[in-house]
Amino acid sequence: MLGRLNHVAIAVPDIAAATALYRDVMGARVSQPQALSEHGVTVVFVDLENSRIELLEPLGRESPIASFLEKNPSGGMHHICYEVADIRAARDRLLKSGARVLGDGEPKTGAHGKPVLFLHPKDFYGTQIELEEV
Ligand code: CO
Repeated sequence: MLGRLNHVAIAVPDIAAATALYRDVMGARVSQPQALSEHGVTVVFVDLENSRIELLEPLGRESPIASFLEKNPSGGMHHICYEVADIRAARDRLLKSGARVLGDGEPKTGAHGKPVLFLHPKDFYGTQIELEEV
């Protein structure tokens, strides 16, 4: 069921500063910031040879990462994203095992235009999991 690691997402309080760190100090290729109002985040993609990092800054008052940053004011790893071939089949298998899918359980269009779902961090050793259908 589980495919490649698609990305690791890091919530940051200041995306301009985080982008500068990855670009200027780490020497990474970074994207322009993209405001994704329907997801309540501004995102910058950091391209790595074998994967990517997503820097996330809250956008708007309803941002799903606002409470995370309240608990982790200097930022922190927010989720990791695995690729799956069939997201509904993956969801049904996880639900059958007792895992909790966040939201209404229906896949939404994620930051890359593909269907995504999020799984409860308490079911995965404290790590929120995103599944992306590729
Ligand atoms: Co993500």
